[in-house]
Formats: sequence, structure tokens, C-alpha cells
Amino acid sequence: MKAAVIDRFGQAKNFRIAELPNPTPSACQYLLKVHASSINPVDWKIRNGMFRFLLWPKFPYVLGFDVCGEVVAAGVSAHRFKVGDWVFGMTPFMRAGAYAQYALADEKALALKPLSATPSEAAALPIAGLTALQGLRDRGRLKGGQDVLIIGAAGGVGHFAVQVAKVLGANVTAVCSQKNIEWVLTLGAQRAIDYQTTDIFADHRQFDLVFDTVAAHSFGCCKAILKKKGIYISTVPNVSSVFSQVTLPFYSLRRAKVLWLCRANDLDELAALMNAGKLKPHIQQTFKLEQIQLAHELSEQHHVKGKLVIAS
Ligand SMILES: NC(=O)c1ccc[n+]([C@@H]2O[C@H](COP(=O)([O-])OP(=O)(O)OC[C@H]3O[C@@H](n4cnc5c(N)ncnc54)[C@H](OP(=O)(O)O)[C@@H]3O)[C@@H](O)[C@H]2O)c1
Repeated sequence: MKAAVIDRFGQAKNFRIAELPNPTPSACQYLLKVHASSINPVDWKIRNGMFRFLLWPKFPYVLGFDVCGEVVAAGVSAHRFKVGDWVFGMTPFMRAGAYAQYALADEKALALKPLSATPSEAAALPIAGLTALQGLRDRGRLKGGQDVLIIGAAGGVGHFAVQVAKVLGANVTAVCSQKNIEWVLTLGAQRAIDYQTTDIFADHRQFDLVFDTVAAHSFGCCKAILKKKGIYISTVPNVSSVFSQVTLPFYSLRRAKVLWLCRANDLDELAALMNAGKLKPHIQQTFKLEQIQLAHELSEQHHVKGKLVIAS
């Protein structure tokens, strides 16, 4: 099979297209013919070596977690799907492998592709959609009528978060740049703030939840705009957010939470929301596998609108 591989950690220019043997599914896995994958920042963080002490990939290494494809083979204990089913989900964290013509995925990390979704749309959903859903609904306990501030509302996670918050019945204030203001309002935000020209803390509005997908602000900065029992969630773990998470319970009713990793167990929920017309991925651009370097370089500039997809 054709795959985009790296032979060492480093820049996006290190990608090369290689011929590799098709992977073989273990007992609870499926082999998928990949129709689309999508880029997540974690892909290029792994590529540049940020997680080298957590992951010890065997080179040549095939990156990529988000996947949509057709089941072509099943492990002996994998019974949920049959050959020919169209599924979407995530490749295993320690192995990745979605930037290829064939990839493996665990049974528990897959769901049937939403009927209303193209393969590219389904591939845009998993990591960013699960992060938005689990961040707001579970970690943030967001309820109808509450006020949420979504920082990074135009990005992969953020544009799903705006839509999920609307489904949950919350009042959404979105933070993005001027060029995306109109768009995030159409996604379901009631207000939008251009962070490049406006101090997001200036009007002293208070929120039940601040969902920060950028980490340009710490809990300390956001404390003033959190209600008495408000929650600050960061999708970007760092020393400051972990420190706030650990220490706040000793002296405050406010909470800071770090979202380390999203779980794969809500893929069916995402598919249902999509089929109901309540969630729609926005794809800024689609690349061929051979253009993976360009796609990574664009993602690394931090200004993607929605998602970047790799499709055959
Ligand atoms: N812990 C987890 O499980 C988990 C899961 C998913 C993602 N993450 C992390 O969460 C972060 C976001 O992921 P993503 O997929 O959403 O990334 P992304 O799609 O690359 O985010 C790009 C967006 O960030 C916005 N942005 C950049 N600087 C900003 C600022 N100062 N204020 C407000 N918005 C700003 C840009 O909007 P404008 O163009 O309008 O500036 C752009 O739309 C990444 O660091 C990722 O690794 C963690």
C-alpha cells in the first residue's frame, strides 16, 4: 500500500511517500480501506517530536488518527461490523497509521459512517468532534441556558464546540478573528469577539464555562470572567492549567480542567447529531496523500477554518 511516512522526528518536509505491506488486524481490530483522513494538531506535534518520551514509534512511521473507510478485513474477535461497511473513527493512539491507503482501527474506536456524511466529512469528525462533545458536555457539564465562551471557535475543535453548545441549549460567545466572525454566528454563536482588535475580558461578562482550545490565556486570566462556580477547560495541557486544576479545589468554587485525551466512545452520538442536521464539519481544504507536507504546514500556522482533510 501507499503511505506517507516519516523516518525521523522533524519538519513536514521529511514526509515521503512509501510502499509498505498492508497491516494485519489483531483479534479486535478491522483493516480499513482508507477513503479519507483529517489533520489534527496532535499529528504534527508527534511528527516534530513533542511526544517522543511518550510514544516510541517504529520508523518508518505512518501518522494520522482520524479515518473514514470501508471494512476490508476483520480480526477473529471483531464482530460489530462486516466487510463492506463504511465506518469512521480513530486509529490506535500508540500506532496511528491513517495517512495510508489501508489502516487498522480497534472495534471500540469505530462507528458506522453517518448516512448524511461524505467520507471526507466523516473523517473530519472524530478527534475534534469528540473533544468538543466530551469537553462541553462531560468535563464542562454545560446545560441549557448557561453561558459559554469558546476561545478558538473557528478551528477544528472550536467550530464543533459552537455547534455542540447550541445543541445543549447554551448561550455561546465565540472568540475568533474578524474574517470568521460572520461564519461562527451562522454556526450558532449569539455573540462573537475578534480577539485581534478586542480585549475579550473588557466587558466583564461572566460565563459558566470557558472552553479554551488555544491556551493563549491561562485560568488566571479567565478567572475574572468566570461565574462563582464557573469552569475553565483547556484542550492544551500545560504546567499552568495542570497547576490550577490541582490547587483550585483548596481555595475556590471555580474549577480548571485539562482535557488530556478524548475517548472514542461517543462516535455514535456524533453520527446521530450529524444525521439529525445538528452538526456539520466545515472542510477548509482537501489534499491528496502526496500533498501531506502542505497540509501539515498549513495546520501549523494555527489559522485553519474548520478542518483539513486528506482524501484519495
Ligand atoms: N486534549 C485533547 O484530547 C485534544 C483533542 C483535540 C485537540 N487538542 C488540542 O487543542 C488545540 C486546538 O485544536 P484544533 O484542532 O481546534 O486546532 P486548529 O484547528 O489548528 O485551530 C486553529 C484555530 O485557532 C484559532 N486561533 C488561533 N489563535 C487564536 C487566538 N489567539 N484566539 C482565538 N482563536 C485563535 C484560529 O482562528 P482564526 O483563524 O480566526 O485566528 C483557527 O481557526 C490544539 O492544540 C490541539 O492539539 C487537544
